[in-house]
Formats: sequence, structure tokens, C-alpha cells
Amino acid sequence: MKTLAIETSCDDTSVGIVDFDWQTFSVDSLLAYSQIQDHQQYWGVVPEIASRLHFDKILEVIKNIGLDKVKDVDFISVTTHPWLPGSLVVGKAVASLLASYFTKPLVHVNHIYGHLFSLLLDRKNSEIQFPLVVLTASGGHNDIYYVEIQASRSKMQESDSIHESWNMHHASSWMENFPWIVFHSFWGYRIAKIGYTLDDAAGECFDKVARMMWWPYPGGQRISEKALQGKPNSDVEFKRIFLSKENFEFSFSWMKSQVSFLLKELEKKWTPLTEELICDIAYEFQEAVVEVMVKKLVRAWIAFDAKTLWLAGGVSCNDRLREYLQSYAKEKMPESIVLRPVKKVYSMDNAAMIWLAGILEFNSECRM
Ligand code: KG4
Ligand code: ZN
Repeated sequence: MKTLAIETSCDDTSVGIVDFDWQTFSVDSLLAYSQIQDHQQYWGVVPEIASRLHFDKILEVIKNIGLDKVKDVDFISVTTHPWLPGSLVVGKAVASLLASYFTKPLVHVNHIYGHLFSLLLDRKNSEIQFPLVVLTASGGHNDIYYVEIQASRSKMQESDSIHESWNMHHASSWMENFPWIVFHSFWGYRIAKIGYTLDDAAGECFDKVARMMWWPYPGGQRISEKALQGKPNSDVEFKRIFLSKENFEFSFSWMKSQVSFLLKELEKKWTPLTEELICDIAYEFQEAVVEVMVKKLVRAWIAFDAKTLWLAGGVSCNDRLREYLQSYAKEKMPESIVLRPVKKVYSMDNAAMIWLAGILEFNSECRM
């Protein structure tokens, strides 16, 4: 089964064509135009520029993949929500045009579900155990999701080899503790958002702190590089915001403000901002963000009796986040627990994850 996928929700014009056999999800061709350089002078994504660039680049990217290949696909997937409306509309318009010209079904995909299911890319399906909890941490969103196999769909799933080795699980033991949770059914899965940020997303926070240091957008990678040279410093200590709250909420705006206050304080005292001090700030900031994210994810794993933990989204490229989760898990969890960071290439926005969520959505629609 072949699909064409298009992702234009933010600052990447990403297109992929993939052949898929229900056993493995393997990506054949994936091309993207990244707008990062175009936005750097503005220290962040400018929506109007983003949509114009998608418009300028999308046909070029599709031609490079091979326009003639579109006639052989079974359907087309496109990100339709959420994010920048002007950017999304470019992908939607091009996908609709191609679907109409080549008479292909068009599948609308939720960007967050793309991140959620990106774990399945380039993996054996038998490796995955449900239920699982996933932290999706990006520039625009920061949530914890719970995903389980839907019991009522078991007959249907048994007939699909993709599901053969996936274990069934019935949620309920924890349900009475979280009566506010709303489930969404999605091709044999039940998905619930159980945690979220009250303000900024983690990636946004990394980017804004990097900006305070005059480092270019996006700043996450630069902060993690500087943090490697940093160390604990008693003059640089940040609170772990909301860590003691027994819930799954985050506040990265507050986290970011602590850095801003410290920089103002140092300025007032005429303390020189040496390279050593900058690295210590990057180190402590990263530790604070990572500790909160990991401990909240592990708390969700315990509360929801999950079998797999999973990191997705651009921030999950952060090596310290991956390392902290591994070592914290070793300490706190039984060996049977499975840790799954998404491969870095699929952590950032990409069409492959949209293709994958599109396949799930397409099958969901076809079977209704
Ligand atoms: O998922 P993504 O490509 O786009 C959105 O959906 O937003 O994530 C981009 C975000 C940026 O904010 C970027 O700074 C952050 O991911 N990021 C990182 C790292 N690499 C990328 N944040 C922390 N550490 C990193 N190594
Ligand atoms: Zn994203």
C-alpha cells in the first residue's frame, strides 16, 4: 500500500512517498525544505513568511520526490491541524489538488497524532507493548498522552498481522482516579491527553532562553551543547516548576522567567557573563526542564499502569532528556518496562509521521 504524505504545519515543507506492507513501516523517500535559516533573523517562526515559503517550495519538493509517482499511491495524507493556519492551508490546497487530479482519497491528519505514532516508524511492531504513555515535547506543544488498544476492536485487530503480537489491555483500574479523562478512538486505539503545559511548550522555552543568550533560533540544540560544558553552580539554581504538584501539568513560561530574572540580577551586580557562567546556566536550565519532564512522565506511567514509556517531538532529540529517562527508569522501574525514544530523524516535524498517522486514519475511515 503506497501513500503520499505532506506536512506543512510550521516551518518544514516535508513530503514523503512510502510503500507499506502491514508488517513494518519503512520509509522509502522523505524530502524536506527547512525554513530555519529564513526565520533566524527574526528569532523565531514568522507565520506569514512560513506560509509564503511553503507556497514557494512545495512543488519543488514534490517534483524532487517524483510527481509521476503520485499516480501509483493508494491515498494522500496531509496535516490539517493544529498549527499555523496559513502554513497548513498550503499543504491542504496542494494535497486536495493532487487527490482530485489523480482521483485518490485524501486523509486529514492531526499533527500531534503524527508525533504520537512516530514510534512505529522503522520498528518491528512486535516490539511495542500497550498501554503506553508518551511525552510529546516540541516547539508548539508539550503533552503527555496515554494510548491503549481498544478492547472492542479486538476481533478486527486479530485479523491484522500488525496487531498480532500486541497485547490487549483493559484500562479501568485507574479510571476512578481520573474521571475527567476523555478518550478518543483512533483505529483500534484509545487515546487520552493526560498532561499538558499551562503556557509555553518546552521547545519554545529552550528557544526563548537561547534567545536571551543571543543564540540563533531554534536554540534547543545549542543549549544542550553548552550544557555539556557546564556544571552545578550554587549561584545558578532554578526551581523545578510544578514538580511537587501531584498532577501532569507543566509551566515552561515560569521556567524561562527564572533565567530572565537571573540574567537581570547578574547585570545589576555587574557580574561578567563569562563563557563558564553561561555554560553553567545552560546546564542548570536543561537539568530543571529535563527533571520535571521525566519525573512527570514516570508519574504518569505509575498512575496509568503503563508498559511502555515513549518520548516524541523535537525536544526528544535532547540527549540529556534521553539519558535522564534511561537512568531514572533503571532506578525506579522493573526491568520489564520498555523505554522508547523516537528515532531522532523522526522526532522533528516530518512527513513520515504524517504518512503513518494517515495510514491509521485511512484504515479507521475505511472500516467504519
Ligand atoms: O517537533 P519540532 O520539529 O516542531 C514542532 O512541532 O514544534 O520541534 C522543534 C523544537 C524546537 O523548539 C527546538 O529548539 C527543539 O525542538 N529541539 C531541542 C533539541 N533539538 C530540537 N530542544 C532541546 N534539545 C535539543 N537537542
Ligand atoms: Zn511538531
